[in-house]
Amino acid sequence: MTRRAIVAANWKMNGDSALVNTMVSGLNNVELQDNVNVVICPSAPYLSALVVKAKEDKLNAAISIGAQNVSEHDNGAFTGEISTKMLQELSVEFVIIGHSERRCLYHETSTQAAHKVKAALNAGLTPILCIGESEAERATEQTETVLASQLQPVIDEVGIEKFIDVVIAYEPVWAIGTGKTASSEMAQETHQFIRQFLAKANENVAAKVPLLYGGSVNASNCEELFAQPDIDGGLIGGASLHVEQFKVICSAA
Ligand code: G3H
Repeated sequence: MTRRAIVAANWKMNGDSALVNTMVSGLNNVELQDNVNVVICPSAPYLSALVVKAKEDKLNAAISIGAQNVSEHDNGAFTGEISTKMLQELSVEFVIIGHSERRCLYHETSTQAAHKVKAALNAGLTPILCIGESEAERATEQTETVLASQLQPVIDEVGIEKFIDVVIAYEPVWAIGTGKTASSEMAQETHQFIRQFLAKANENVAAKVPLLYGGSVNASNCEELFAQPDIDGGLIGGASLHVEQFKVICSAA
């Protein structure tokens, strides 16, 4: 089964206007396989500049722009929030939802993530839904239960058929920003579990959903991770802030 591969850059609360410019210039000559999409997700204040620069430089059409979060509400008194319509107006195509930093630091629940996925899909945005277990949960063999509990509310909210337009990023929390990457075997085993979990609801959809690995992916470990049968790319944090390193990762997908 050939699925599209995706390499998404999550700049988190890093980067500046200079990075917007150097990243777009740097990615202009990146070598990508035919079925690979690259998504750059800067902090919200840089979305507009990134869109403009990408247009000016006629950036490769396989490179899209994504946001790091979105509101589940359409509009109203929600100070600090950004709506799907605002992202649409900026020509943003993807949005990260339910990142573990949102879950852990801002207490976002799987129910909220499900509402956000629904809002994104309704607006024609592609959600990158993040799921993953903590170190303690893996140590106590709760990984599969945790992943199921993060996926099921989204399936219940939007219906499994809609997952054809969803990207899932599996990010073990203990591997994020720690330099402790999951081994390729461990990552593959967990990705396979996620695909099988989706397949219980709809085999055809499960076979098509891109599953990304995230957690200390870098230029040295990306090739082995991306070679795994159920790993269709990555969600890259720290290494996505360095143009040359990020290009190596994009080309490995
Ligand atoms: O969204 C990206 C992930 O949290 C991974 O971050 O590559 O810095 O570990 P990292």
